[in-house]
Amino acid sequence: MNFRPLNETVHICSESYEDRRQFMQDKPQSDYGQLPVIYFVTPTYPRREQIPELTRLAHTLLHVPRLHWLVADDQEKCNDFMDTLLYRFGMPFTHMVSPMPSKFRNEKPAPRGVANRRAALQWIRQHNFTNGILYFGDDDNTYDLRLFSEIRKTQRVSMFPVGLIADYGVSGPVVRKGKVVAFLDSWVAGRRWPVDMAGFAVNLEYMAQYPYVNMPYKPGYEEDLFLRSIGLQMNLIEPRGNNCTEILVWHTQTKSKKLGMVRLESKYLDDRSNLGALLHNLKLMGVTSTTESEGRNALISKNGREKPHSKILS
Ligand code: UGA
Ligand code: MN
Repeated sequence: MNFRPLNETVHICSESYEDRRQFMQDKPQSDYGQLPVIYFVTPTYPRREQIPELTRLAHTLLHVPRLHWLVADDQEKCNDFMDTLLYRFGMPFTHMVSPMPSKFRNEKPAPRGVANRRAALQWIRQHNFTNGILYFGDDDNTYDLRLFSEIRKTQRVSMFPVGLIADYGVSGPVVRKGKVVAFLDSWVAGRRWPVDMAGFAVNLEYMAQYPYVNMPYKPGYEEDLFLRSIGLQMNLIEPRGNNCTEILVWHTQTKSKKLGMVRLESKYLDDRSNLGALLHNLKLMGVTSTTESEGRNALISKNGREKPHSKILS
């Protein structure tokens, strides 16, 4: 284990502590004022599915009161598009960038989402937030709204099963007489805490007692070593989700495709039609790029027939 405090570069792109939402789950914001804040840490990375994933996740989180969304992007540069998107949702957020160190990029498997989660941990440390709950919520999972009221009660470390994990379709604690006694997971590999990243939450006051909190760049062992670094003991674990009988979070995965490409003459990407602005937006979102020379000409049709670009766009 690594007994050194985290020392990440945390680069903040934009943040907002303002909650512009008026109602959540049919109650006014003021009804929730006393609740501890959930720090929801989402590692994310640029790919074609990034903006749709974050949009879908935001629409879950928008129902959750007293939540600060830490969006930690695995890339070098901030992008305005993401800042604007996150601000528009109207909930408190911090957008930071923290790229995976290049020496890990080509490893197979690579330590996915580690640099960015470490940066988020460092951010929490730097602010000395102790009244709140930490949860690692990947951008592609599916979250039941009951998860948030369950984890908000976390005194030290709470745990619950995650659906759709590996061969068993589930990973989670074994509970007897209200206590966690073991784990059901199809990949043990010596892990003392064989749980998924989405299967636990940590109280920040508890975590603050451990100065060497860490998440190693070791694929498959991130959860185990993180939980070891905060001194977890079996008898400290609080089972949630009706004694770990319910699924409150799903490890859904999105099929990934390479970037789209549209071949269109650049002279037509002006304001004579919508296409210039549309394709510009898709480029900003990392979905599609345009080219003048590669691949087949973009199909533009009318009345069931392909038309020359000049006919429609000039
Ligand atoms: C599984 C676990 O559920 C994750 O908690 C764990 O981090 C991951 O394995 C792993 O350690 O490999 P999985 O669905 O296989 O997750 O992985 P992804 O969803 O692709 O990535 C996990 C998170 O890291 C996502 O939020 C993703 O956006 C982010 N990520 C992925 C990066 O930040 N950078 C990358 O290069 C890849
Ligand atoms: Mn995933």
